[in-house]
Amino acid sequence: MSKSNILIARAVFPEVIAKLAQHFDVDSNQTDQVWTPAQLIAKLQGKQGVFTTGSERIDGALLAACPALKVCANMAVGYNNFDLEAMTAAGVLATNAPDVLTETTADFGFALLMATARRMAEAEHFLRAGQWSKWSYDMFAGSDIHGSTLGILGMGRIGQGIARRGALGFGMKVIYHNRSRLDAATEAECQARYVSKEELLGSADHLVLVLPYSASSHHAIGAAELAQMKPSATLINIARGGIVDDAALALALRNKTIAAAGLDVFEGEPKVHPDLLGVPNVVLTPHIASATLPTRLAMANLAADNLIGFLTQGKPLTPLNPEVLPKP
Ligand code: DGY
Repeated sequence: MSKSNILIARAVFPEVIAKLAQHFDVDSNQTDQVWTPAQLIAKLQGKQGVFTTGSERIDGALLAACPALKVCANMAVGYNNFDLEAMTAAGVLATNAPDVLTETTADFGFALLMATARRMAEAEHFLRAGQWSKWSYDMFAGSDIHGSTLGILGMGRIGQGIARRGALGFGMKVIYHNRSRLDAATEAECQARYVSKEELLGSADHLVLVLPYSASSHHAIGAAELAQMKPSATLINIARGGIVDDAALALALRNKTIAAAGLDVFEGEPKVHPDLLGVPNVVLTPHIASATLPTRLAMANLAADNLIGFLTQGKPLTPLNPEVLPKP
C-alpha cells in the first residue's frame, strides 16, 4: 500500500518528524514561517493529513480547496483554529492534544497568578532600570495568595489542577463557575464551591480564566464584568485571547478598577493591544503556559500518533468529531 502524504505546518521536534516519516511521505515547514491561508492551501495539495498548531486556521474555504485532506491533528488542546462544523460537514477528522499538558499548564497558571499578585514583573523592571535606591515599607506591596479566595472561570481539567494547587498548597478558598457543575466527588477533591458568574466576579481575590474560546465565550470578561470585580483583585488569562476584551482590561488596569492582570494570551496575538503594553500593573507572557520541553514533546507525539492511528488503522486517539469515522 502506498504511503499517505502529510504536511507538518510548523517546525517541530526532529524525533517526531522522524517518527512520522516512518509511516508517511512528509513535507515539513522547517523555516517555521507561519503560512498565509493561500500558502497553506498550496502546501496541502495532495496531502491526506496535516499536523497543525493553533496558528493554522482550518475552515470551509480551505477544506473546499484541499479535497484530498482527511485529517487535521492539532498540537494543542484548544482548537478554536478549527471550524469543527465545516470539518465534520466535509468528513474531515479533527484531533486535539488533551491531558498531556494539564499539569504543566496548571503550574503556569499558578505561577502567573503569583507573579501578578506579588508584582514580580514590575519590581524586576524597576530593579533592572537602576531605580532601586532604598527599602521602603510599601515598595511593590502586592496582595496575598495564601488564605485568599481563588475564582476559576471554566472548570475543566486545567481549572481543576489550579483549584487543587490553590486549596491544597495555599489554603485558598476556591469558588468556580462553569457551564455545568462538577460532580460532588470532583468538587470535594478540588475543595471547590460552585457559584454564579456574578458571585465569582464579586468575591474572587484572584480570578483565573481557563474556559475554551467560542462565540459564546467571546468577551466573557469585558468592561461590565471588570466593574463587578474587587478593586484589589487580580485577573489571570491562560485560556485564549478574545475571552477578555483587552481594550477594556487596559482601561480597567489604568483606572485601578482592578489591581493587576497576568496575561498569557491576547486578542489577535502575536499582536498585543498597545494600551496593555503601556500599563505597569500587568504581567505579559507570549502564550507559553504549556511550554516545558517534556510537555511540548508529549503534545507533538500525541498529534503525530493521531495522524498515524487514523491514517494507518482508522483509529485516532483523541478525535474531536468521531462522527466522521467509518462505522465499525
Ligand atoms: C493549547 O494547547 O491549546 C495551548 O494553548 C497551545 O500551547
